[in-house]
Order: sequence, then C-alpha cells, then structure tokens
Amino acid sequence: MSLVIAMDGPSGSGKSSASKGVARALGLRYLDTGAMYRAMTWWMLQSGVPVEDPAAVAARAAEPVLESGTDPDAPGITVDGTDVSEPIRTREVTNAVSAVSSVPEVRERLVLLQREIIGAGGIVVEGRDIGTVVAPDAPVKVYLTASEAARAARRAKDLAADPGASVAVTQAEQARRDRLDSTRKASPLTKADGAYEIDSTELSLGEVIEAVVRLAKEQT
Ligand code: DC
Repeated sequence: MSLVIAMDGPSGSGKSSASKGVARALGLRYLDTGAMYRAMTWWMLQSGVPVEDPAAVAARAAEPVLESGTDPDAPGITVDGTDVSEPIRTREVTNAVSAVSSVPEVRERLVLLQREIIGAGGIVVEGRDIGTVVAPDAPVKVYLTASEAARAARRAKDLAADPGASVAVTQAEQARRDRLDSTRKASPLTKADGAYEIDSTELSLGEVIEAVVRLAKEQT
C-alpha cells in the first residue's frame, strides 16, 4: 500500500487542520470521514428519520448518495448532488451525529466508500476508526489528543457565529459526544495498535504538522 496516514482522535484535538496541513505538505489527498457521518446525519434529519431509533436509521442507510472531495484546500461533500459542506456543521447535526454513527449499517456502508476512496493510497484520512478498522495496515497511524479544556476552546472558536455556543455549552456537548463515540459497540474511538500519540495541548498547529510529516518520512 502506498502512503496512507491515519489520523484518529476526539473532536477538537486539531485533527482537521493538522490532516489538511500534512496532506498539503506532502502533496497527498485528504479524506474527512467525519464529514461523511455528518452528511449521512444531515440527510436523516432532512428526511424526517428519528435519529435516536437505530432500526429506523439502519432501514434508510443505503439511500443517500454521498460524494466526498479529496482536495485538502477544498474537500467539499455532496449528498444526492447537493453541496452540504456548510449545513453538516450546524449544532443540530453535531448533536445527532453520534447516534447515527453508532448504527452498524451506517458504518458498514461508509467504511466501504472510504476504502474505495483510499484505494491505492497517497492520502491522509481523518476520523475515529481509521487506524483500527478502515485502514489497519496504514503505514502511519496517529492518535491526536488534547486536554478537554483546549478542545472545547477550539470548538467554541469554530462555532463563534452560533450564539448558543459558549465554551461551557460546547464543552458539555463535546463531552457527551466523546463519551458516546468512545463507548459505542461498533468501532469505538480508541488508540490503534502501533499508533503514535501526539498531545497537541501545548503544541502549535505547525508543530503537530511537522511531527506527522517527520513520522511519514521515516516510513518512506
Ligand atoms: O470529526 P467530526 O467531529 O466531524 O466527526 C463527527 C462524528 O462522526 C463524530 O462524533 C463521530 C463520527 N465519526 C465516526 O464515528 N467515525 C469516523 N471515522 C469519523 C467520525
């Protein structure tokens, strides 16, 4: 397999910025698997599917057509031809995504799509189960963490336009999402065997990117 860099970790650990930066630095493609779970969740909400009902979600999981871009400068994602890059970032979707992504039928379908895109490699893939399930043979696996306070502060900054998104509210919602993502039965968030852990609490974005690029160069 040519270069695949698996970047896993909880929300707000800086995964997206670091993954895009690494892809740019090394001239690789980039895949945001979280965006795929969000797009599936957006479609379920639009379609009136009760997202807390796993059987209802499973029954519709095969329907939406998802297309993920892999350009780190403009990844983009469409559902049935509609660009959903922005609506998948709303709090409504964010607070429903853990329920939808815990449904095995959803995961099976998206993991297949992800493996198709990964193909022969040359890509940085970010998510929760990339090193454990999607691409366990990836030559470079990173588990990116940060303190809960640092993660909440970063998320609140992302959501600055949303008046309900104070640091306290964001921290509580994020703690709930991380608990659900780490304790679900299907592919929970966990550090993969052989993953290199980077705690980004005290690191700049540039330092995180540099550390991953160094790891990748050691492998090639
Ligand atoms: O990375 P993110 O916050 O955009 O991800 C949104 C949700 O998608 C996250 O709460 C859990 C789920 N997810 C997952 O279950 N598996 C992945 N590989 C990526 C994301």
